[in-house]
Amino acid sequence: MSKKDIIFRDMISLRGPSIWTYPPVIESWIDIGELEDFPSNKIPGLYERLAAWLPSLVEHRCNYDERGGFLRRLQEGTWAGHILEHVVLELMSLAGLPDGFGRTRETTTRGVYKLIVSNFHEECTRLALEQGRELLLAAIHDEPYDVAAAVKQLRRKVDRKYLGPSTAAIVNAAEARRIPHIRLLDDGNLVQLGYGAAMRRIWTAETDATSAIAETISRDKDLTKELISAVGVPVPEGREVDSADDAVEAAEDIGYPVVVKPTDGNHGRGVFIDLVSAEAVKKAYAIAVEEGSGVLVERSIPGIEHRLLIVGGKLVAANRSDFITVTGDGQSTVQQLIDTQVNTDPRRGDSELHPLSIIRIDTAARLELERQELTGDSVPAAGRVVLIQRNANHAFDCTDEVHPDTAAVASLAARVVGLDIAGIDLVCPDISRPLAEQGGAIVEVNAGPSLLMHIKPGIGKPRPVGQAIVDNLFAANESGRIPVIGVAGSRGKTPVARLVAHLLHLSGRHVGVACSDGLFLGRRQVQKSDAANWTGGRRLLLNRAVEAAVIENGGKVILGEGLAYDRCQVGIVTNVLPAAEDLSRWDIQPTGGEYYTTWRSTYRTQVDVVLQSGYAVLNASDPLVADFAELCDGEVIFFSADAECPALEAHLNAGKRAVYVSESRIYLGTGQDEIRLCRLGDVPLIGKSKKPETIAGVLAAVAAGWALGLTQDVIVTGIKTYGLDLADPFALLPRRARKSAGVASRI
Ligand SMILES: Nc1ncnc2c1ncn2[C@@H]1O[C@H](COP(=O)(O)OP(=O)(O)O)[C@@H](O)[C@H]1O
Ligand SMILES: [Mg+2]
Repeated sequence: MSKKDIIFRDMISLRGPSIWTYPPVIESWIDIGELEDFPSNKIPGLYERLAAWLPSLVEHRCNYDERGGFLRRLQEGTWAGHILEHVVLELMSLAGLPDGFGRTRETTTRGVYKLIVSNFHEECTRLALEQGRELLLAAIHDEPYDVAAAVKQLRRKVDRKYLGPSTAAIVNAAEARRIPHIRLLDDGNLVQLGYGAAMRRIWTAETDATSAIAETISRDKDLTKELISAVGVPVPEGREVDSADDAVEAAEDIGYPVVVKPTDGNHGRGVFIDLVSAEAVKKAYAIAVEEGSGVLVERSIPGIEHRLLIVGGKLVAANRSDFITVTGDGQSTVQQLIDTQVNTDPRRGDSELHPLSIIRIDTAARLELERQELTGDSVPAAGRVVLIQRNANHAFDCTDEVHPDTAAVASLAARVVGLDIAGIDLVCPDISRPLAEQGGAIVEVNAGPSLLMHIKPGIGKPRPVGQAIVDNLFAANESGRIPVIGVAGSRGKTPVARLVAHLLHLSGRHVGVACSDGLFLGRRQVQKSDAANWTGGRRLLLNRAVEAAVIENGGKVILGEGLAYDRCQVGIVTNVLPAAEDLSRWDIQPTGGEYYTTWRSTYRTQVDVVLQSGYAVLNASDPLVADFAELCDGEVIFFSADAECPALEAHLNAGKRAVYVSESRIYLGTGQDEIRLCRLGDVPLIGKSKKPETIAGVLAAVAAGWALGLTQDVIVTGIKTYGLDLADPFALLPRRARKSAGVASRI
């Protein structure tokens, strides 16, 4: 490599917890070649150029843990890999992604580094890595680089691919409650919250509880009005019309002013309010009929537009609209005034990230101007106030001002239509007074309402609508989790995974297993090939029928793909020594020093992801595994065929739990108390060979069953029946255990 260059040798997408961190990351292997001899303090002007091109790098604290910490490292001298890490994170943050995680680690090859950055969205991260490399090389070679263009390109991709702000708010609220999420569409806002049988699905502000019928009703304004007015909700008097003449007739029946609008429009398109003449009604009809499949004429309700967000029958946020006006200066046209006085507001934009939209002279605005005998090209006199738009500008949060009666009426409307989440459009002069007494009315009930105006109001307090939606999906004591059992280790994982699944099956749960023998749902094998990988695990978590998931994941999965789940109820580590998995692909040798640590940390990942309410099941006879005990956020159950194993004894002496063998019998020990389960000889899997590894595997599975709260009946029957070709293992369960497994009637 003649010229100073940076080459991406490899990119590994770790789509779940890994040795680096919990959220997804991309691990790039970069070769900086000659730059290994040129730390930043040896490249003239590099510091100055980077600090000028990316001034917000000053916020990077780096290992000095202070503002400007990274820039200080840059001045003192640091290497290209580390610099690239910070440049990429900064580009992603400038493009609207959350602040990310970064690491740079040497490999055994000089000049080759592992560069780890957060992976919020695969395509966005890969683009940021490419851009970061180009930017850094330009800074190194003192060549021009258009940072603004790069950020714009990345922001466009983020807007298209990353979660929309409304969905992100719901996902963040779920995360705050430690409810996991899985994005089901790469570039859509369809997200699964929770795993398996405990999951719920959202598509932005629609959930799996939003009925299709309710959604259809809400799209038909006339039907909606009929249903809600039947229960006393005030709505504007009006009817559907089928011609311009019929519209005038309806208007005259109702009495001016009236509104003409499509029966099933949205975003205010084709909606004309405050019409006071037949001519205006006809003009409006001609436009409204193009915007929908029918036209409504109704009384024009005096007042201001409000949007009330109802979640699970409760008012969680409310916004008031404001009229859009401009003031003449005697020189500028109306269009120019809009561009200078309205659209310069940084909150206005076309992307999902902007709470307010760009104001354009659309058909409604043109009619509004016509009413003032103006057009977009007119030059209003200095000081003349010109009304551009009366609605669809929900800038003001007014949640705390809503009169309780009005909140109740809005909630009633949502309930009648049948929506768990509804955006209620109502018009009234004063939201702090009951609707009826001021002639206010509900004009529309929206399914899947935009949440952005409530999350980021133009003016006023942001509202925790994401939290309200999550709390409506999951009761306070619900976690969205099913028991997930992760099985890691150097050897003997598969039999443990399958035995644990057998025990869970006997407890009456519908169990999914992803292991190297394949994928199993209940007793059905749905995949014969190796499923001990990320995809295998994910398939279980995406399955609504799965009540417990047992997932085998060895070192190769942890290093090459990441774990398929964010946390687990039980994390089993069968063993680490002697090293049986070849992990050299990831530059990991179990030979001590830095790399030994990385090798060890590969297997500790299984313990790092154990929930606080969970259990690590660890092989006490393997000193490396026993050491993992202190890392566990949850409780630890040791297992060992050797009851005198020092780590196990110390654990029991500390009053903790362990599973061990004594005089050829399996025991459950808690402190000094112990329960005898059965003889080793009663366990078909152990058989006559009594192989130590097999015994250890059975003990690990027993410990996991114990951690999951399975009864002794189930555990004993399970280990006594596993591997036997029984038509129905439940038959061997004592009646009381069959009852609790919900299979009493089967015998
Ligand atoms: N009958 C009415 N009286 C007064 N304003 C109305 C009436 N109907 C609609 N509007 C105004 O127009 C806006 C858009 O009408 P809406 O029925 O909600 O259609 P869209 O589906 O396009 O949002 C409402 O939010 C409200 O401000
Ligand atoms: Mg509306």
